[in-house]
Amino acid sequence: MTIPMARPSTGSAEIKQIKAVFKSGWLGEGHVTESFEKALSEFTGARHVVAVNTGTSALHLALHALGVGPGDEVILPSMTFVSDPQAVLMCGARPVFCDIDENTLNVAPEKIRKHLTSKTRSVMPTDFAGLPCDVRAIRRAIGRSDIKIIRDASHSFGSRINGKIIGVCTGEDATCFSFDPIKNLTCGEGGAILVKNASIAESMRSQKMLGIVRSTWQSFSKKKVEDRRVVQHGFRYHMSNINAAIGLAQLQQFAAFAEKRKKLALLYDDLLQAQPDIKLFKRDYGAIVPFMYIIRVAPQDRDNLIHFLVANGVHAGLRYFPCHLQPFFEHSGASLPVTERMAQEMLSIPLYHGMRASQARIIAALIKKFFA
Ligand SMILES: Cc1ncc(COP(=O)(O)O)c(C=O)c1O
Repeated sequence: MTIPMARPSTGSAEIKQIKAVFKSGWLGEGHVTESFEKALSEFTGARHVVAVNTGTSALHLALHALGVGPGDEVILPSMTFVSDPQAVLMCGARPVFCDIDENTLNVAPEKIRKHLTSKTRSVMPTDFAGLPCDVRAIRRAIGRSDIKIIRDASHSFGSRINGKIIGVCTGEDATCFSFDPIKNLTCGEGGAILVKNASIAESMRSQKMLGIVRSTWQSFSKKKVEDRRVVQHGFRYHMSNINAAIGLAQLQQFAAFAEKRKKLALLYDDLLQAQPDIKLFKRDYGAIVPFMYIIRVAPQDRDNLIHFLVANGVHAGLRYFPCHLQPFFEHSGASLPVTERMAQEMLSIPLYHGMRASQARIIAALIKKFFA
């Protein structure tokens, strides 16, 4: 049996919530979407939460609502999922790739400065593998308040900064989550944007619904006559009751999910720390909910180890191949020495909350066997 790199944990609690949605007769965006937004607001402490259909939509909508458009530049890491630069392109703006720090794997604040130009409109850092990036340091490094910071928190749902769960409390203009099937919390597919500013939230609510003034659900639930006027550029990004129902059920179980992820990461630390051929990333799992577990292996061994693990039924590999080296983004001409080196050394091994400790032990034993 193959051990996957990641896998959702869904079961009877999610099915119960979905059945209730079917019974209600309202499958699209509706009362459950609102309840999920409210629950996320309570969990993260963010006043305004807008639920959408994917994390990619969340990034695009945040960029659009914060004014990023044609001719603008957005600085972001290359070591992230390709959703990020694609979302920038969706706005007609240009992604400008920045190097990372080799210990955090997050964009290095001091390296952002050299990419700043008069066209820079936004910086979009990713909380890689669950470790929150230091937004205050990024703000200090850019030194300009007109540049919007959008935190891509797709990997860091539930992680803490200075004791507080990730929200919009460290100076970011927006924080985006992905709730795709393998994330710390899933909706099947889904995403959300957190903002402090009420009018931006209001505008995003219409933009995610094709720019229509009032959604069908808003008219129906508030006993208002439908107002289907289209008043701005918009997208079809709303979250359905069905997806929100899965998210709500997941949120109720989240403390247990987070605990399991932390325990597995600590177990890997324990099993692998004495192995001389690999390096581990030190993380404080008191504060971080790990999304991935990454090890560092010498470049000459890395791909052979991947093949060995895969041949032995362990789905391991590189998450992520740097965006600036993807065929579509090669023309960017970026040269990012740390990202390029880490792309040769990083290896992601399975981690998900339904994984058993015995499976982590099998994987650690295989890694040791490879080097023996
Ligand atoms: C860092 C990062 N950003 C954005 C996304 C996009 O999220 P979604 O798959 O929900 O569109 C992902 C998904 O893997 C991701 O890992």
